[in-house]
Amino acid sequence: MDKKAFFKLTYGLFVVGVEFEGQLNGCIINTAAQATSEPGRLVATMLKTNLTTELITKKGSMAVSVLSMDCPLDKIAHFGMQSGRTKEKFAGIPFEKDERGNPYIVEGTIARFSCRVEQTIDLGSHYLFICEVENCQTTGQQEPITYADYRKMKSGGAPKKPADAAAAGSEGASGGQAKQGKWVCSICHYVYDGEIPFEELPADWRCPVCQRGKEVFVLET
Ligand SMILES: Cc1cc2nc3c(=O)[nH]c(=O)nc-3n(C[C@H](O)[C@H](O)[C@H](O)COP(=O)(O)O)c2cc1C
Repeated sequence: MDKKAFFKLTYGLFVVGVEFEGQLNGCIINTAAQATSEPGRLVATMLKTNLTTELITKKGSMAVSVLSMDCPLDKIAHFGMQSGRTKEKFAGIPFEKDERGNPYIVEGTIARFSCRVEQTIDLGSHYLFICEVENCQTTGQQEPITYADYRKMKSGGAPKKPADAAAAGSEGASGGQAKQGKWVCSICHYVYDGEIPFEELPADWRCPVCQRGKEVFVLET
C-alpha cells in the first residue's frame, strides 16, 4: 500500500479549541469536514493522546477555527507540534470565547464553528467526533489554507513572507532534508528533523508528538 496516497486527499486546516474547568487548550487538525447541512454537522478525527481530545471528551463541545492563507506557519507549529501538557498554548494568542466558553482564534482565520459533540466513535488511535453546529460565523475574507498549501510552504515552496520561510526552516522541513525527501508521521504530520538519519534511529524510537513508532512514518520525496 502506498500511504503517500493519503496526502493526495484535499483537506483544510483548523484550530480546535476547548475550555474545561478553566483549562484552555487547542490543537491543529486537518480532518474537520462538513457532514450534513440540515442540521449543520461537522466531523473531526482526533488522536486520543492529544490533550485537546481529552478535554473535548470531558466537555462535550469544542470551537473550530478555519485557518486562512495568511495564517503564519509558526502559529500552525505552535498549535500542532507541541502539546498543551507542556505549554500554555493560548497565552499571547488573540482569541475569543464562544457560547460554551470554548476559545477560537481571531487572527489568520476566516470562520469559526461552535460544536456540540453528538456522537463519539472509537477508531482505535483516534476518536471521530460527530458534532452539531450550534453557531458559526465568518471572521475574515481571505482564502482558506489547504493542507497541501501548508505542506508546500513548509518545504520552502513560495512562502508568502520571510517570517514564514524562517518558520519553515525552524521546523526542519527545509534545507538538506528537503532535497533527499523527509520522513513525515502519517498520524500527526510531524516532520522528522533530527541529526541522526531517520533510518538509523533505534527501532523503539517514537514520534515526539503522537508517540507512534517508526512504522507510521512515510518518506516524502
Ligand atoms: C498539519 C497538521 C495536521 C494535524 N492534523 C491532526 C488531526 O487531524 N487530528 C489530530 O488529532 N491531530 C492532528 N495533528 C496533531 C496535533 O495538532 C498535535 O498532536 C498537537 O500537538 C496536539 O496538541 P495537544 O496535546 O495540546 O492537544 C496535526 C498536526 C499538524 C501539524
